[in-house]
Parts: sequence; C-alpha cells; structure tokens
Amino acid sequence: MKVLNSQIPMKTINVDIQHVLGSISRQDIETLEPKATESLDKVLNATGTGNDFLGWVNLPTETTEALLDDIIACADELRASCDTVVAIGIGGSYLGAKAVVEALNDSFAAYRPGVQGEPKLLFAGQNIGEDYMYELQDYLKDKRFGIIVISKSGTTTEPAIAFRLLKEQLESQLGLEEARKRIVAITDAKRGALRTLATEEGYKTFVIADNVGGRFSVLTPVGLLPIAVAGYDIRALIDGAAEMEKATSAPGENNPSYLYALTRNALYAAGKKIEILVNYNPKLHFFGEWWKQLYGESEGKDNKGIFPAAVDFSTDLHSMGQWIQEGERTIFETVISVAEQQHEKLIPSDEANLDGLNYIAGKHIDEVNKMAELGTRIAHVDGGVPNIHITLPALREKYLGQLIYFFEKACGISGYLLDVNPFNQPGVEAYKRNMFALLAKPGYEKETEAIKARL
Ligand code: PA5
Repeated sequence: MKVLNSQIPMKTINVDIQHVLGSISRQDIETLEPKATESLDKVLNATGTGNDFLGWVNLPTETTEALLDDIIACADELRASCDTVVAIGIGGSYLGAKAVVEALNDSFAAYRPGVQGEPKLLFAGQNIGEDYMYELQDYLKDKRFGIIVISKSGTTTEPAIAFRLLKEQLESQLGLEEARKRIVAITDAKRGALRTLATEEGYKTFVIADNVGGRFSVLTPVGLLPIAVAGYDIRALIDGAAEMEKATSAPGENNPSYLYALTRNALYAAGKKIEILVNYNPKLHFFGEWWKQLYGESEGKDNKGIFPAAVDFSTDLHSMGQWIQEGERTIFETVISVAEQQHEKLIPSDEANLDGLNYIAGKHIDEVNKMAELGTRIAHVDGGVPNIHITLPALREKYLGQLIYFFEKACGISGYLLDVNPFNQPGVEAYKRNMFALLAKPGYEKETEAIKARL
C-alpha cells in the first residue's frame, strides 16, 4: 500500500493513517490486506456470518423518494401539531438520531424558547431513571406533545415502560382520538408487542426491515423521522451516505472504510486493545456514543474485540489526558476533526492583558482549538499512542451521512477481519434474563428461583 490516506475526488471525509507508523509498520498493515479484501467482499456479497443482516449496505442508494416523502410528511404533521416530540427508544433505536441532532443543533437549543414550527425533540426510554421519567412528565404536563416510539423487536423493556407512561399522559391530556394522531410507531413489520399495539390503536407506523440490525438503522425511519422532526435535511444525510456507499465499494487505500478497518486491526494485532474516538467539538459527544455501540456490540464477542471508548477534547484532556499520555500503552486514538465551523468568534484584545492572552488576540477560537488538537496528537504519538485522523469538512447533514456510512461499512469489514459475526449481539441478553428473573416476569419462574438462591 503506497497511499497513507484515502483520497476521494469530492468534498468528503478524509482518513489519514500516517501517524500510526511509529507503532506499526506498513508491512503490518499490508499483511492484512488480502483478508480485508475478503472481508469487504463478504459485506458486499453477503457471504459471511450474519449475512441476513446486511440490509444497511445498499440502503442509501436504495432509499426511495416515496419513503423520504412519507417520513417528511409525517415529520411535518408532528411539527405542526406539537411543540415537543418525545422519541422513545434505546441503543440503535436512539443513539443515531441523538448523535445527528446533537451534531446539528444549536448548543443551547434545550434552553431556548421553542420557535414556532420547531418542536423540541426530547428522548425517553433510553434509561430506567424514575426521576428522569418524573421530570419529563412534569415538563410535558402543559405541552402539546407527540411521541415517536421506536423498537425493532417491539419488546424492549426500557422503551416499553416509557411508552406506557407517556401514552397514558397523552391520552389524559388530549383524549384517546387526538392522542392517537400524535403517536407514530417504528417497529418490525409483523412481530412484537409494539406492532400489535400500533395495529390495535391505529397509529401511523414505519417498518424496520428484518435485515437491518438496530445499530445499523440510523439511515432508516428509526433515525430519519426524529432527525426530520428536529428540522434537518434527511435527503442531504442520505445523499452523503450514498456518496460514501459508492466510495467504499472496492478494496484499496482509496476506500476510507477499508483503510480504517485495516489499520485498526493491524493496531489491535500489535497489542493496541483500546480505541478512543476523540472529538474536538462538543457537538460530536453523542456521535461517540453511537460509535461505541456500533463497534462495541459488533466486535466485542468470542473473547475478542477492540474496546471502544470515546472522549471529548479538550474537555477530557483535563481528566483523561494523563492516562492517555502515560498510562498502559494499549491504546490508539481515532481523531475526528471538523474543518469548518458554522460561526465565527475571535478572541478580543485587552489593553491591560492581565490574563496574558494578547498573544492569541485576533485569532479564531477554532484556530486555538486546532492547535490544541495538533499539539495533543503529536504529544500522544510521542507517548506511544498512534492516531488515525479523520477530517470532516463541516457539521452538515451530508458529511454526517458520509461519516455514518463510513463507520458502518468499516465496522462490517473490521468484524470479519476479526473473525466474529459483526451483526449479532448475544451478550446483550444476559442482563435481560437476570432482570426478568429478578422481577419475576411470567415465564421466568425457574430463573427467578435460581437467581434468588444466589442472593
Ligand atoms: O443493535 C441492536 O440491535 C440493539 O442494540 C438494539 O438497538 C437495542 O437493544 C434496542 O432494541 P429494540 O429496537 O428492539 O428495542
């Protein structure tokens, strides 16, 4: 491999692996190329394990105008009839929408009075916090709110609890008929309690295809409807993803997903067991959360897998910086850098200069941030923490669409490089079984007895 960064001839995200070369050699990377090519082939031609969950691969180019029209019309109705919309869901039924909306939103959107036609998008069912639900319901008691309830299986406990409470509240605030018009369900076409409930109540519904797993579903109605309700351009998001779908369809260093998957696995083979996804923009915090689920659930199995962590710099340089610089040398970082900011803010000059900051007066805050980023990357490389560098042109729908698809494709390739099934998550069931046993769920009698004996 000659090229060290993917170079696609369009304005797009860019992946640069130069700064891993102090820790691993080109040879280490090249050795994995035949297997990476085979792994990409498994993703594209559905010949690997878990191949019944590859519906996301061609999703961007196959998303129909009719579906986008339907989602946008539904979002417009909710936006017209509600001042607040609560998206209920957990894991893959939550994190993608949350990541995109947070990346695009004004940082203080939650504290600004709602502008007409711009409902606040809140989230529920992503935890089992009693105070969270109390406070949410208290907030909603004088609001014209609507609900998007999302669960692929239609049986997940966290969102089911939140939906039961919010449905009851909406019905008591609006009456049964009106409430039904403000509830949209996104679930499996046929299976699950949510499908039964939605059919019984006559809710508007969208289907999550059988062959798209939860953590790969952000570009389906699961992510697209909440994102459209928040006022963002889902066509641009899909267009960006479609560009990336095309750019990642052949093996080689110009395929950014291939390059990233290959490099992180070469690092893993060299003993770098932890990957931290680093952002220098607070709006990307939840992108890190989405990425953690994507890679954690896809790769952490069979006693293998890079541990995915995420940090927000420079904030976390003042908490995690010491560990990263000098702790156990088992980590590498993947830095997401946003090239352009949406707004301008310069550092003012001050005649007294008591804080000693005049040496940066007149500079953009982002220039200081970029120097913090560069200085940190160099320090980390010097300290034995290699970094992969991803540049995102700006926080806009199109580039976020590219970034989402880039990571999804890389995740599929990477899982196959690791010889795991990237599309199942058997380990997630263990806590559920115990929780159901402890709560004495009907059908879990034996488990209840067994777990009680251990307490
Ligand atoms: O990736 C997955 O499949 C999971 O993390 C799910 O997204 C999560 O468990 C929520 O499941 P559901 O959408 O069925 O409620």
